Amino acid sequence: MKLLFVGDVVGGIGRRTLASLLPGIRDAHQPDFVVVNGENSAGGVGITQKTARELLELGADAITLGNHAFRHREVYGLLDREARIVRPANYPKGSPGRGHTVVERDGMRLGVVNLSGLVFLQAVRSPFAEADAVLAELRDSADAVLVDIHAEATSEKVALGWHLDGRVTACVGTHTHVATADARVLPGGTAYVTDVGMTGPRGGVIGVKREQAIERFLSLTNVRFETSDEDPWLNAVLIEADGDGRATGIEQLLLPAAGE
Ligand SMILES: [Fe+2]
Ligand SMILES: [Fe+2]
Repeated sequence: MKLLFVGDVVGGIGRRTLASLLPGIRDAHQPDFVVVNGENSAGGVGITQKTARELLELGADAITLGNHAFRHREVYGLLDREARIVRPANYPKGSPGRGHTVVERDGMRLGVVNLSGLVFLQAVRSPFAEADAVLAELRDSADAVLVDIHAEATSEKVALGWHLDGRVTACVGTHTHVATADARVLPGGTAYVTDVGMTGPRGGVIGVKREQAIERFLSLTNVRFETSDEDPWLNAVLIEADGDGRATGIEQLLLPAAGE
């Protein structure tokens, strides 16, 4: 089994970058499942019905989210209805959407779980205990499980990777928009990376026009942020697993947008 996981798609430029590169990646690597983090897909912050549909139509089998999941109210109904989209599982019970799902293709069942870290982010239950609870629910309903840990602190993500080693096929980090150089298969058979990175404009500051971000740091005033359009890249990981859902490899894909 091969899984492609695409890091936070930022704005229209990120969606166009994904659209331009995904066909070639499919041809070259033939992933069985494509999972995309879409928490920044609408104008750089949040997700809307339009951008969710666009990501699904581009070929995402599932979409994960993060701290910007509920930015746009108009998407709440879709989060409730659309089983292929997950927001952090450790959010309040009864908030829109779901925290885990199972998607199927060619007789294979992939469990997809979204979790939020607690350091500098808001969630109401520990991602560690929540992961244990979700995995117990998925025990008989998924052949492989991918966890997207959307978190700020590298320590929290590394610890969760070890906590889940041998129990999930992949535990991949998102949220910082900066790819880390530690992709590896842990000894128990879990593919791990602290942060996949961002599919969006590398010429900005984690997606924002760099002059606006610098101005805010310089002046501490409330500068309006817009999505940068400079130097778009796709950041993703490609994970290979055996029939038992044990990861055998993880490879980073860091690619400039086609034709840029
Ligand atoms: Fe993000
Ligand atoms: Fe985030």
